[in-house]
Amino acid sequence: MATNYAIVTQDLTKFYGRQRGIEGVNLRVLEGEVLGFLGPNGAGKTTTLRVFLDLLRPTSGSARIFGLDTQRHDVEIKRRLGNIPGDIALYESLKGSELLDLLGSFRGRGGGRRIKELAERFDLDLGRQVRAYSRGMKQKLAILQAFMHDPELLLLDEPTLGLDPLMQREFYALLAEEHNRGKTVFLSSHILSEVERLCGRVAIIKEGRLVLVDEVEALKRRKVRKMHIHFRREVGKEDLRLPGAELLRLEGQEVEFLMKGDIQTLLAAVARLPVEDIAFPEATLEEAFLEFYQPAPEGAAV
Ligand SMILES: Nc1ncnc2c1ncn2[C@@H]1O[C@H](COP(=O)(O)OP(=O)(O)OP(=O)(O)O)[C@@H](O)[C@H]1O
Ligand SMILES: [Mg+2]
Repeated sequence: MATNYAIVTQDLTKFYGRQRGIEGVNLRVLEGEVLGFLGPNGAGKTTTLRVFLDLLRPTSGSARIFGLDTQRHDVEIKRRLGNIPGDIALYESLKGSELLDLLGSFRGRGGGRRIKELAERFDLDLGRQVRAYSRGMKQKLAILQAFMHDPELLLLDEPTLGLDPLMQREFYALLAEEHNRGKTVFLSSHILSEVERLCGRVAIIKEGRLVLVDEVEALKRRKVRKMHIHFRREVGKEDLRLPGAELLRLEGQEVEFLMKGDIQTLLAAVARLPVEDIAFPEATLEEAFLEFYQPAPEGAAV
């Protein structure tokens, strides 16, 4: 039966001994969407991807890809997906072209023409030994092997790592094309601008648990506002401890806050200060995300 989910996880949990990798992850990736998978270092992104690829077995819970259990149907699943791992390990003694041929033979498909097109597009010389490739060249090879068999689903773990800006742009263009062709993309990344541009939805993972799944647009709408105040004279830091606002920047008479709490109380407190002018600029997506990257708050830091 056709399902409209490319990936469904159920209470997916992976412990490395006593060390938590991920815990209780329930996530649904829609067919044809580009989902951004974000989270601070050590949050569990790579662990999640490795479970999808059946390189790691879950401690409990399960994951289904194309409706198939990842532990029982890994061969079938792998044939239909492309993967850029976070830590590329390649057969260094082969030439680029030999490595791709080898991978193509594992998968039973992977067109020579597609490889040639991609190699030209990313300006990669496949005639050289992988050992002699630079970091960025290895990343390009990882891209080629992920896309060469025209997979339905792409699992990408920080795929632009090591690429120069021009090649990053080329990669984004490729992803956009694949998305237009109906492919599903699961994109783990730390680069917010890349997520903002390419992804319809984002999932945020923190300390092994999903903390938010939402549309990028919704995130932008609900994103925090800033308050910019120009004071008539300089104001001491003590007077800038306001309820529902976190001090971001203090430069003479110019002060910027991140607004968090109840606006009534905040404005009442602001009214007691020598305000010359006040503005409420939108925070960037980056500023909105920062909250998810910070450790669990024990009273907002200034
Ligand atoms: N082989 C391992 N043995 C023990 N603990 C591990 C192992 N691999 C990962 N972990 C732990 O699991 C947690 C999640 O790690 P993971 O690599 O999935 O994070 P990540 O989100 O990919 O981080 P990054 O952004 O740094 O790539 C971390 O606490 C990490 O220390
Ligand atoms: Mg990782």
